[in-house]
Amino acid sequence: MRFEDIPTPSYVIDEKKLKENLEILKEVREKSGAKILLAQKAYSAYQTYPLIAEYLDGTTASGIYEARLAHEEFKVSTKARLVQDEIKKTLDDKQTKPENHVFEPAFKDDEIKEVCNICDHIVFNSLSQLEHHRSVWEKKVSEGTLSVGLRINPEISTEDSHEIYDPCAPGSRLGIRNEDMPDVLPDGVEGLHVHNLCEQGFEPLEDTFLKVEREFARFFPSPLIPDDYDTYIFKEFERNLRVSDKEDYNVEYGESETAQTQPEATPETSGRKIKWLNLGGGHHITRDDYDVDALIGLVSYIRDKYGIDVYLEPGEAIALDAGYLVTTVLDVVETDRMPVLILDTSAACHMPDVLEMPYRPPLRDSEQPGEMNYTYRLSSRTCLAGDIIGDYSFNDEKKPGDRLVFEDMAIYSFVKNNTFNGMALPSISLLHEDGEAEILRTFNYYDFKTRL
Ligand SMILES: Cc1ncc(COP(=O)(O)O)c(C=O)c1O
Repeated sequence: MRFEDIPTPSYVIDEKKLKENLEILKEVREKSGAKILLAQKAYSAYQTYPLIAEYLDGTTASGIYEARLAHEEFKVSTKARLVQDEIKKTLDDKQTKPENHVFEPAFKDDEIKEVCNICDHIVFNSLSQLEHHRSVWEKKVSEGTLSVGLRINPEISTEDSHEIYDPCAPGSRLGIRNEDMPDVLPDGVEGLHVHNLCEQGFEPLEDTFLKVEREFARFFPSPLIPDDYDTYIFKEFERNLRVSDKEDYNVEYGESETAQTQPEATPETSGRKIKWLNLGGGHHITRDDYDVDALIGLVSYIRDKYGIDVYLEPGEAIALDAGYLVTTVLDVVETDRMPVLILDTSAACHMPDVLEMPYRPPLRDSEQPGEMNYTYRLSSRTCLAGDIIGDYSFNDEKKPGDRLVFEDMAIYSFVKNNTFNGMALPSISLLHEDGEAEILRTFNYYDFKTRL
């Protein structure tokens, strides 16, 4: 089926763009040693998990359902596995198996056992949850199949405009503040988890790490290299710069003699220190202006300095700009302000972030109101007066039957949609690299009814 023939409404995942994003993330993994996980809360079209599994280290879940989905579906396809097996012959199974991570503010007693069985990492949001479930997770830790972490609150807000997306806002329930953390890591805990970013570039991540490193220093192992962040990062920049750019960065570095040498084991270094640091999501790594080299430098620095694993768990970055919501104009209604296009999609049902963030989604072949010949308000066929997607202008007059294509609709869209007003859920399609479109999933009346 051609893209133009997909019945609407449909979310269409763009395989080519998805792969381009994954290539960038793979490069970050390979150059920095970061372990990168798909945050399923942003994107969980599991039909594409075998593709994503070829590029990333695993997934992270917000609870038992996402964890189960990853457990069942996040595997490299048999065909890809055959190729990879050749490359990975030297690695053991544990190193090649995708990792399944989970964080939830509180785990329920009737779910924790399964969660601990299917996950490789579990992150608790409080010391009370850690202790409440200790008997369950401790068993798995002793069997060597589970690693346990604590989510800390770095108390650094990087999100100015949307408090709803700021885990460090005053009164936040997310993560343990430094003053509430004990002096030493609780027995069995191997990692710290930080998440305070939302759609951000590199700099807020750097600020966050430096604050965490300073304030939570007691949980980090003794440094293996000198505490010379600026020089180190700068070196990494140079290493990753294209040759033509290098003259701008001709700075002298003093070679450190102690760098990379392993200190003698002491009671302190063999004590309870973190083995991994998870820097959460919100990194817009696949956006054009993201400073990928700086990220590679920072992750390399953390790994080399402390000898720990560094995890990143972006959601948006995986499928950024890699999907569309295709819709059809059903009617054009004249109003006292401007004509309104009634579409077979809805902001409230199919793109809830448009109302929640709020934001105006990009729309193909359109401009801001008034910039082109015909300006319309785009709305839906629900009863909600405020179910408005935004105001747009077009070169051509719009009429019933015309198709419109909203961009950047693979993330936080089908994972959040709903059937308010009995609205049908859009189908989910995959646009293959050769231009052929495949419908992965359609929904009908029974999907609406069986949720009630
Ligand atoms: C704990 C955690 N990890 C990862 C993510 C993914 O963030 P994003 O999709 O913005 O990269 C989120 C988003 O809310 C989160 O809360």
